[in-house]
Amino acid sequence: MPVTKRKKIETILPHGGELIQRELVGAQREAYVNQLNTLNSLRLDAWSLSDLELIAIGGFSPLIGFMGEADYTSVIEDMRLKDGTIWSIPITLPVSNEQAKSFEIGSTIALIGDDDVFYGVLELQETYTYNKEKEAKLVYGTTDKTHPGVKKIYEKGDVYLAGPIYLLKRPDHADFKDFYLDPKETRELFARLGWKTVVGFQTRNPVHRAHEYIQKCALESVDGLLLNPLVGETKSDDISAAIRMESYQVILKNYYPENRTRLVIYPAAMRYAGPKEAILHAIVRKNYGCTHFIVGRDHAGVGDYYGTYEAQELISLYEEELGIQIFKFEHAFYCTKCENMGTEKTCPHGKESHVHLSGTKVREKLRNGEALPKQFSRPEVAAVLIKGMKQNNSN
Ligand code: ADX
Repeated sequence: MPVTKRKKIETILPHGGELIQRELVGAQREAYVNQLNTLNSLRLDAWSLSDLELIAIGGFSPLIGFMGEADYTSVIEDMRLKDGTIWSIPITLPVSNEQAKSFEIGSTIALIGDDDVFYGVLELQETYTYNKEKEAKLVYGTTDKTHPGVKKIYEKGDVYLAGPIYLLKRPDHADFKDFYLDPKETRELFARLGWKTVVGFQTRNPVHRAHEYIQKCALESVDGLLLNPLVGETKSDDISAAIRMESYQVILKNYYPENRTRLVIYPAAMRYAGPKEAILHAIVRKNYGCTHFIVGRDHAGVGDYYGTYEAQELISLYEEELGIQIFKFEHAFYCTKCENMGTEKTCPHGKESHVHLSGTKVREKLRNGEALPKQFSRPEVAAVLIKGMKQNNSN
């Protein structure tokens, strides 16, 4: 019988050309685990732990560790690693001055979580101090300490530790384990599904009608949608990842074609860096194997720090070099005259016909157990959110 050769599906190259894998298993892992008691250790907060994981699983390819000073300076000043690769947000490991003094350059540091679990090691190559104001201004475009990303800069230690890392144990995403795949696995999944083109969607919110509209507009042109919500640290008034994950499952089940959609978590911390974070988000989704990425209005923004389309404007300058195609969408809304979702590109009616709810208004309604207008949110999604809010309030 003739053997039919399965055609290999070409996938998008990871950022920098190679999918980084820094997770040790077997004897290599044992070698580090056995030395654990002899190593100096550093306790990581949730943010740094998620950075460690994303470096190790290749989400942050081509990074192999926490950035040294040359890369750091080049990233904040020129948005490139020192070898010229585009990179928009520094990935660094902050410690206090006293802690920094206790570590020797050239030594191996055990990286421990808040839960006392030994997650990985850092081969310490360098320590350096940095200018908080400069980092805030260049990365976030503001030094206002009420900006959640800037606030973090001022709260963290004054020294960065740098060097390659290894991951010895993956953080436990127990609640979301059915939705955890690393970039190697999503790439395999897309190939298995026969998806040549995949659009990635970043979100830190429940999927409302506007999100659904832009996702489905994109899905008209590509083979599959990777709904890739960020589930790492977010600001305290954002809806929790647990509630959101339930809402994503409900909307996918009721309103999306199963064979063209997958839900996978993005275990990163949210920076709220607007335009620069849009670029980081696109790079990461490229590493997960997406060929396309959605940037809508005020992507990764907070408050009024960034212009509505600033993220789209910045990413447009780098799109060709990034290699992932960007689907840009204007502000989407439901129009009561069109009886349809649309944007100013497709709807001729005035603002009085457009259903709009601010994030604050939505949270207020949910807290009061009030239903959201069905033009704004699918009723099944609103029901999950209201139930989640009630549970949170009673805890
Ligand atoms: S983000 O911080 O993760 O970007 P959010 O979950 O609100 O926040 O947005 C996810 C994506 O949907 C982003 O690309 C954002 O620009 C886009 N988006 C959100 N709301 C709208 C809207 N009404 N119209 C167009 N794009 C939107």
